Amino acid sequence: MNLSNVPPDRTLLDLLREDLRLTATKEGCAAGDCGACTVVLAETVDGTLRYRAVNSCIKPAHAIDGMALWTVADLAQSNGALHPVQQAMVECHGSQCGFCTPGFVMSLFALYQRSVAQGHKVDTHAAQQAVSGNLCRCTGYRPIVQAACQMQRQPAHAVDEAPIVSALQALAATTRTNPDYLLPTNLAALLQARAHHPQAQLIAGATDAGLWLTQGLRRMPQIIDLSRVAELRRVEHYPHHIAIGAAVNLQDAFEALARDRPVIAPFGERFAGWPVRQSGTMGGNVANGSPIGDSMPLLIALGAQVVLMAWRKRRGLGHIVHRHVPLDRFYTGYRQSLLAADEVLCWIVVPRPKPGEWLGAYKVSKRMEDDISAVCLAMQLHMDEGRITAARIGAGGVAATPARAVQTEAALVGQEWNEDSLQHAQAAIEQEFSPLSDLRASAHYRRQLLGQLLQRAWLESTGHSGVRLEDLA
Ligand SMILES: Cc1cc2nc3c(=O)[nH]c(=O)nc-3n(C[C@H](O)[C@H](O)[C@H](O)COP(=O)(O)OP(=O)(O)OC[C@H]3O[C@@H](n4cnc5c(N)ncnc54)[C@H](O)[C@@H]3O)c2cc1C
Ligand code: FES
Ligand code: FES
Repeated sequence: MNLSNVPPDRTLLDLLREDLRLTATKEGCAAGDCGACTVVLAETVDGTLRYRAVNSCIKPAHAIDGMALWTVADLAQSNGALHPVQQAMVECHGSQCGFCTPGFVMSLFALYQRSVAQGHKVDTHAAQQAVSGNLCRCTGYRPIVQAACQMQRQPAHAVDEAPIVSALQALAATTRTNPDYLLPTNLAALLQARAHHPQAQLIAGATDAGLWLTQGLRRMPQIIDLSRVAELRRVEHYPHHIAIGAAVNLQDAFEALARDRPVIAPFGERFAGWPVRQSGTMGGNVANGSPIGDSMPLLIALGAQVVLMAWRKRRGLGHIVHRHVPLDRFYTGYRQSLLAADEVLCWIVVPRPKPGEWLGAYKVSKRMEDDISAVCLAMQLHMDEGRITAARIGAGGVAATPARAVQTEAALVGQEWNEDSLQHAQAAIEQEFSPLSDLRASAHYRRQLLGQLLQRAWLESTGHSGVRLEDLA
């Protein structure tokens, strides 16, 4: 359908429910938290469809231009037979009041299609991940997870992809421009748009910016959406570093980081829930600069840099200019950074591990899934014969910006990694930061956590087993 008369800041959920009267998709929180509004999008990647469950309440309607969309009303077959996901939900008693059910069904539909494509059997872990962005206040999660594990036992009903792929490819060949919602497809066009429209709201996945619309009631008369910029949609692998493009979603970014450092996988799973991780970007997390953002402590500990790019004129001609900034020097104050008004954060460059690296990354929040950190701590150590030769520590939730614990690092380097140096480092890190009290945690608790997380790092890095919560699970 043609969206030319839809305002740039209209959400997909409002378009569905209010403009099109397609009310099967529900609104719960309008903040990306509850998952009631979940719909499934698909894009063509190498001639096949790639499915994502997303929160329609915080997604601008124009952001899905050129994609296929399924709501819960699209799943039942033409003869009225339920989709395997729906049938499994019925048989496992996965619904009571039903308000959350359309969202759960759509999250499981995305999982169903992905597991068909990859030939995977859905297990409990995959099911829990798939519904990690869906809240249910009455059924309880066990029957829903059980339905997820049983949906593949129903008669198969996969999407007939060929006609959808051809329709999307035909659509991609047409030119659609909307001056109020700019969707550049290459880097030069993005940077020119940023230079020519400094007042426009730049977005990537809109998992922060979408809330400014629905919770802050902000208007965005013009939006630049960088999610289609081809150059920024990939992770590039080099011998000494990887470069994560600003349009790579969080799920793919954490998976790329975890390939070199498997300990990052469970840490990545603690970031929001599935739909937010499949829309939001690591670039957006870093650029937004929240002091409780989760990727920055990890990236600071890994020694990451950001690459900032702009379109500037020199002797009358436009050029792309760029600069590299170490992430630990990027932030200048609460939600303030070195990013200039015409710059876009285009890449996050992460050094690959050197031999002997040890890494720990921890998030403490009130819930395991879909919750914001009280404190986040990441620690990279290099040791030689039990002595620390290098240490980098990133911390979140303890200062006005994501921060590097330089004094604590200095207290560790050159020391043997034993109980004495641990206690010394604990004292240093509790001194180094002055956290605030807020609804997530008191200042006292946050300061104590810093010391406790260092202790956990010491236990894990010195081989004490049985301290990892993920292993106990
Ligand atoms: C339910 C829910 C749970 C969440 N849980 C977590 C969590 O566990 N941990 C956490 O850290 N965050 C969490 N978030 C916050 C959010 O998902 C992240 O900050 C996410 O990484 C933002 O990325 P985005 O692409 O959606 O950014 P957007 O919302 O598109 O943009 C956010 C801001 O960054 C700017 N921006 C985006 N990309 C760029 C760029 N490349 N260059 C310059 N500026 C840019 C935009 O202009 C905007 O000001 C959660 C959000 C929701 C709704
Ligand atoms: S309505 Fe709650 S996540 Fe969208
Ligand atoms: S069935 Fe009522 S909220 Fe989930």
